[in-house]
Amino acid sequence: MSNTQPVTVASEHTALKARKVAFAWEDTPLHWVPGDPFTTHTINVLHLLLPAGERWFVHVYKQVLPHIRDDRLREDVIGFIGQEAVHSQAHDDVLPHLRALGLDPTPYTAQVDWFFEKLLGDRTLPPGKARDWWLKERVALIAAIEHYTAFLGDWVLGAEELDRQGADPVMLDLLRWHGAEEVEHRSVAFDLFMHVDGGYRRRVRTWAAAFSALAFLWQRGTRFFMANDPTLLDRRASFRDFHDGGRRGVLPSTPAMLRSIPRYLSRTYHPSQEGSTAQALAYLASSPGANGLPHPANGGR
Ligand SMILES: [Fe+2]
Ligand SMILES: [Fe+2]
Repeated sequence: MSNTQPVTVASEHTALKARKVAFAWEDTPLHWVPGDPFTTHTINVLHLLLPAGERWFVHVYKQVLPHIRDDRLREDVIGFIGQEAVHSQAHDDVLPHLRALGLDPTPYTAQVDWFFEKLLGDRTLPPGKARDWWLKERVALIAAIEHYTAFLGDWVLGAEELDRQGADPVMLDLLRWHGAEEVEHRSVAFDLFMHVDGGYRRRVRTWAAAFSALAFLWQRGTRFFMANDPTLLDRRASFRDFHDGGRRGVLPSTPAMLRSIPRYLSRTYHPSQEGSTAQALAYLASSPGANGLPHPANGGR
């Protein structure tokens, strides 16, 4: 095989299905990483970005489905659509609880909705080249974003420091169920991008756009939560705080994030080289939320 082709680890492939999940939020405190509002709110940004972001994935992929000429990839994409639709809803369901605790996310989610629905939405393009270009561009953007959802999923599955800090078990289960499914379906978006286009320049360009947008939206989201948290006197949020969280193991580390960049841009990159399907499936088999099991910490609800 040429060294300019993606190198796939075939044993990492698995059939995908959406899981029915249930999470009870009543006992989850505002600062669900105890005494650490910065870490709590940095991770809470997922609840702001993912409902609109993953709805957008589903919307774009439904348009691509008729163009897929490979049966296994079509099955993978259908499984992916099912999983992302559940993820989007599960994170959306956290927002009323945050509101009840005095933290109204609406001003920020309105901006995120605009970003995905208008800026990245369907434009009034005539059928033909321009419409194809915009669809391929969005498929490539999703592949780049999925590099990071898989990275974060792999990270949270192994983030034992959050357990040691006494993080809320229901929130940890939501994050790890979602993270495990991100690892499980981590190759689908990249395989679809390679199927419909796969151009290297497009991969680099859309990676740069996705990375910049994620960094921008994430730091704004963290600042938004810190600024609007009714219990905080010290509302600062800086990159140094993020870096410190990474060093302590409660957030992804800056060096690990930097190392992930050249991997995605390598011509031999394939998502199956990263993370472990076996680890993801082991978590999914034991996840209370994904199996309708009671959470011991909240009285078996
Ligand atoms: Fe997801
Ligand atoms: Fe995903």
